[in-house]
Amino acid sequence: MAAHKAERFDEAEAGYLRVLDARPDHAKALYYLGLLQFHRGDTATAIKFVQRCLNFARTNGPAWNTLGGLFVAAGRKTEARDAYRRATLVAPTMAEAWYNYGICLRDEGDVEGAIGALRMSLAREPGYSRAYEALATVLYQAGRTQEAADTYREWAAREPQSAKARHMVAAVSQRDVPARAADDYVRELFDGAARSFDANLGKLNYRAPELVAAALVRAARSGLDAGAGTRLDAVLDAGAGAGLEAVLDAGCGTGLCGPLLRPHCARLVGVDLSGQMVERARARQCYDELIVEELSAFMRSRSRAFDAIVSADTLVYFGALEEPLGAAHDALRDNGLLVFTVEALPATASEHHRLEAHGRYAHSEQYVRSALTAAGFAATAFEAATLREESGEPVSGAVVTARRA
Ligand SMILES: C[S@@+](CC[C@H](N)C(=O)[O-])C[C@H]1O[C@@H](n2cnc3c(N)ncnc32)[C@H](O)[C@@H]1O
Repeated sequence: MAAHKAERFDEAEAGYLRVLDARPDHAKALYYLGLLQFHRGDTATAIKFVQRCLNFARTNGPAWNTLGGLFVAAGRKTEARDAYRRATLVAPTMAEAWYNYGICLRDEGDVEGAIGALRMSLAREPGYSRAYEALATVLYQAGRTQEAADTYREWAAREPQSAKARHMVAAVSQRDVPARAADDYVRELFDGAARSFDANLGKLNYRAPELVAAALVRAARSGLDAGAGTRLDAVLDAGAGAGLEAVLDAGCGTGLCGPLLRPHCARLVGVDLSGQMVERARARQCYDELIVEELSAFMRSRSRAFDAIVSADTLVYFGALEEPLGAAHDALRDNGLLVFTVEALPATASEHHRLEAHGRYAHSEQYVRSALTAAGFAATAFEAATLREESGEPVSGAVVTARRA
């Protein structure tokens, strides 16, 4: 096991096999030999060894739980759910097994089952924070907003240091709503989401990068509004680039805008608070510079450095827009372009911007326009658009294009 820990896999394997020579039913050796195969990248063999271990240790909850994880890694979802279920049966006090079982049920669309299992997880271990978050999200998506709010409150009470819990309590209670999402919340959220971000948003018909890139290219080529309504791919593909010198992708995330912007500028810079997201953007190799920093602070530090700034699905983490728009104005050269997306605040709302129960801010058109004017921008285009889907429903918003006056 020491060799295994030190990743000397051949030596560890020889050791486990020696134990099994002497005692073929040694469950622990079978279990760790399975894990070792997984660590080597051979999930199918790992599953076989852990299954053999379970033949001799049928009431071992953690081993059933591990088997579930191996099935998940192998994409064998039904078997994963059954293995986690077995873990909850043989080890009913194991919060992690209930949690994993709940996630499988959620992914299968069994909302009630998922809620039940996640509640069991919390009943077994009231400090199990992953279960609070998952439970509140499932409740929210099921339209049970009051129960979702109660779950976030419980989570925040148990874990007052959690930035996510604090932010979501503000979102559901409308009390102590921050002017923008706190830096530690953004980092916690997106560092955690980075690995699956592209795949998850792909499933939600995410369109913000295409929308902002097309709006920028249209505005750069022919002035505001020209060509609005033209098909996006036609705008982005049409021949030569837009001939911009320096472009900033503010809140670049994993860099989904990068490949769309690259043909249109000589220099492409990205900034984002989440180091994990930026690592993924770096892997795309289309940015000349990537910086991990708060975007308004960064833009204030780069006076008149850019011809254009785009910000896709990022100002939705800001309520008040005065600071990021003022900073963008500072960072743009004369006649520089700013293109960003916002989510739409329902026309019935009385306020300018609101932190919605899902944790992002929505803005009114009137407020966005007046904040742009106050920051020194002119000639604004405000085009309604569907940005993506959430819980099967389209998320309505707008693509905003403005020019530094
Ligand atoms: C939904 S993602 C969008 C990423 C990318 N623009 C895209 O369209 O794929 C929002 C990004 O904004 C970043 N972000 C939010 N608030 C920020 C802030 N104040 N400063 C810098 N980055 C921020 C997050 O870290 C996250 O990567």
